[in-house]
Amino acid sequence: MKSKSWSKIILSLLVVSLVFLAAGCSNSSKTNGVKKIQNRGTLIVGTSADFAPFEFPIVQNGQKKIVGYDILLAQKIAKNLGVKLKIENVEFSSLISELKDQKIDMILSGLSITKQRKKSISFSEPYYTTKNVLLVRKADKNKYSSISQLAKKSIGVQQGSTQQAVATKKLKKSDLVVESVVTSLATELKDNKLDGVLVESGVAEGYVSKYPDQYAIASVKMPIEKESQSYSAGIAKNNQALVKRVNQVISKLKQNGTNKKMLDQAKQLQKKYSK
Ligand code: ARG
Repeated sequence: MKSKSWSKIILSLLVVSLVFLAAGCSNSSKTNGVKKIQNRGTLIVGTSADFAPFEFPIVQNGQKKIVGYDILLAQKIAKNLGVKLKIENVEFSSLISELKDQKIDMILSGLSITKQRKKSISFSEPYYTTKNVLLVRKADKNKYSSISQLAKKSIGVQQGSTQQAVATKKLKKSDLVVESVVTSLATELKDNKLDGVLVESGVAEGYVSKYPDQYAIASVKMPIEKESQSYSAGIAKNNQALVKRVNQVISKLKQNGTNKKMLDQAKQLQKKYSK
């Protein structure tokens, strides 16, 4: 055989083995998303701790920490993986890019499933269902009978949230007040700087039950996109192994009713310790 054909054979063998190698690599990064976390020994969960009873800071025995339903869920997942848990407090609108940049393994932050988000991240099975309400000052509880009356009012939403999206679309307000944390929106409402905050019912109820003289949920019905009614864990697209594990944990919690107990526990903490 001529040396030219030898080199052809060697070249094609090389190409074939390179293809196999590449396939092997991408495969292992797919299946080893959980292993990677286990080797590190820590699950890193990103959350935006401005959203009681799901995630919020408290001071307990002189120590500051982030607690809430999502944190209890994070603990269960870490336990299932046999690793420690680290909570990163990140602005809500940065959570998805932090996940894509692999700075966190998972988002647990009252994160709603949306078509748009599905393009860039994966979601676990839903673990909580909610709806949108307008949080107002107590005196304004029955002030509005339709959302058209909100046209000239100053309405606040969290940056990057599904509330921002639905308000932009359905309330058609040019002067929507968009801020990075829900807690400051609630303070501004109380201080008469806003007329309402579009937020999810569980969070609004927290404000009303903690400060019944200040806040109320407006009787006017607020719009919500159907898909965004469920909270799920947000996980990187290439980590289906983690999605599977999280789904196992969630379905167990739903089956044995632990999820309800977790919510009660989070609400207790909110009543007792949060400001
Ligand atoms: N469910 C809404 C969304 O996914 C709002 C979530 C806000 N979460 C938070 N921790 N502030 O956009």
